[in-house]
Amino acid sequence: MKSEEKLDQCYEAVKDQLPFVPKLALILGSGLGDYADHVTVEKVIPYESIEGFPRSTVAGHKGQFVYAKVEGVPTVMMQGRVHYYEGYPMQDVVLPVRLMKKMGAEILFLTNAAGGVNENFHAGDLMMITDQISSFVPSPLIGANREDLGPRFPDMSEIYRREYRKIIRESSKALNIDLQEGTYLQFTGPAYESPAEIRMVRTLGADAVGMSTACEAVAANHMGMKILGISFISNLAAGMSTQPLSHKEVQEAADLAAPKFRALVTEVIRRIGEH
Ligand code: 6GU
Repeated sequence: MKSEEKLDQCYEAVKDQLPFVPKLALILGSGLGDYADHVTVEKVIPYESIEGFPRSTVAGHKGQFVYAKVEGVPTVMMQGRVHYYEGYPMQDVVLPVRLMKKMGAEILFLTNAAGGVNENFHAGDLMMITDQISSFVPSPLIGANREDLGPRFPDMSEIYRREYRKIIRESSKALNIDLQEGTYLQFTGPAYESPAEIRMVRTLGADAVGMSTACEAVAANHMGMKILGISFISNLAAGMSTQPLSHKEVQEAADLAAPKFRALVTEVIRRIGEH
C-alpha cells in the first residue's frame, strides 16, 4: 500500500476512539519514556491496534499513543517512536507525526536522547534544539507531494520556533535547570559514529547527534506544525571520552536524568497553554 493511503487508513482506524482534539503532540524519547506515568491518562491507543502503523522493535521503547491533559493542555503523546534504522521507509517513520496532525495537533514537541558533540557539553545535560541538520538521512518528503499536507518546496528557515525557544529558556530559568542550546544532527544509525565522523560533523556545526527527530521535524514543518525540541545529552559522542558507547549506558543515563527532563517538559507545556 502507498504511504499516503496508509496514513488515511490509520486515521480511519483511530478517529472514533479519540477523547478530544489535541493542541500539542509530544514525542517521548529515551529519558522521558515514563512521562505518561506522571500524567492523568484519558486514553491509550496501542500502535498494534492500528492496522498499517509502524511498530518499534527496540528494547525499552513502548508503542502507544497516550491522550492526557498536561497542565490543562490537551496533548497526544507517543510513547515509543520508530527509527529509520529499523528498516522502515522514511515515509513510514514520519507517518505517526502526520497522524497526530490529522488528529488535530498544531504543535509538535520533540524529545530524544543524543550524543554530545559540542566540547562544552557534559553527559546529563539538556539541550534546547535551535536548528537541525537532516542531510545525512533521506527526506521523508521525497516522492509525489501530497498537496493536502503541505507544499512541494517547504521553507525551513525557522523549524524550531523562536517563540517556543523563548519559553524553553524561561522555563529552565524558572526551574533552575541548566540548559544548553544547539544544532541537532540526525544520522541513520544503528551503529554509533566513529571519532572521525564526530570530528566531521563538529566542523559542520552540529552540537548533538542522534538517530531520530530531524526527519520528524521535516515532516511536521511541511505540514505547518509549530515545532520545539529538547535533547537529553546521555553521553559524549565517540572520541570525546575513553568510554565505549552502549545502548544500555544511554538508557541508564536517561533514566537518571528523567526527573529534571520531566519537570522542564511539563513547565514548557504549562507556559505554552498560557500563551
Ligand atoms: Cl553518540 N550517536 C547517535 N547517533 N545517537 C546517540 C548517541 C550517539 N548517543 C545517544 N544517542
